[in-house]
Amino acid sequence: MTRLLHFTDMHLRHHQPGSAGPPERLSREMPAALERLAARIAELAPDAVVMTGDVLDVPDPVIAGESPDGRPVETWVDEARADFRLVRDWFDGLGVDYLVVPGNHDHEPAFTDVFGDTSGPRDVAGFRFFSFWDQLSAARQPVRTGARAELFEAALTAPEHDRPQVHLQHYMIDPPTVSRGFNYEYEDAARMKRAIEESGRVRAVLSGHLHPGSLVTGETGVIHSLPPAFCEAPHPFRVYDLADGGGAEITDHALDA
Ligand SMILES: [Fe+2]
Repeated sequence: MTRLLHFTDMHLRHHQPGSAGPPERLSREMPAALERLAARIAELAPDAVVMTGDVLDVPDPVIAGESPDGRPVETWVDEARADFRLVRDWFDGLGVDYLVVPGNHDHEPAFTDVFGDTSGPRDVAGFRFFSFWDQLSAARQPVRTGARAELFEAALTAPEHDRPQVHLQHYMIDPPTVSRGFNYEYEDAARMKRAIEESGRVRAVLSGHLHPGSLVTGETGVIHSLPPAFCEAPHPFRVYDLADGGGAEITDHALDA
């Protein structure tokens, strides 16, 4: 049995000023929430901890290279880097393997400065984890293109990757979901879902981005999961107990449950 603990969409701000726009995103409470989460992780003893993006809440203009408030944009990027460092120090203090991918509210160069390039395959806890750093299109629909699409194809078809996999990415493949007027699944989601099922290699596709969360297990048993956003009360997270021969037990938890 392999136990994974998954949280997503933390939208942390500590060194960066202010908070995420929507008031239910409790950006400034996240450092304290992480301390509480560490205690739960120690109790639950997962084999790996997974975080699927929007680690921070970096303002959209900063990600586009502009300052939102008249201070130099470089100051914002320095503060984002310090916030990523805070989170990295927390992960390193867990004493548990962890995997983290950036989301659309993370500043990718600052993320890379602190965490390195976490994209690609990595073997942890008996699974080959593939981390995809995808993008939103101009219509704000997720897309997987270029080297990321090639990595996906290789994961599913290359002989050297023929082993049990977990896929990590900020965006969801299944089910098709419209929220706040936007499609949250990939443009090519139906084909991606089919290719995953046909490969027989992927046990779970773990995502974030859709703050209410989602969970489906298709007829072939592939788990498509994103827990509700950790930044919002009651600060949810999800645990997957993956049985060695297939099958899984999935349980929802929260700091304030
Ligand atoms: Fe988010």
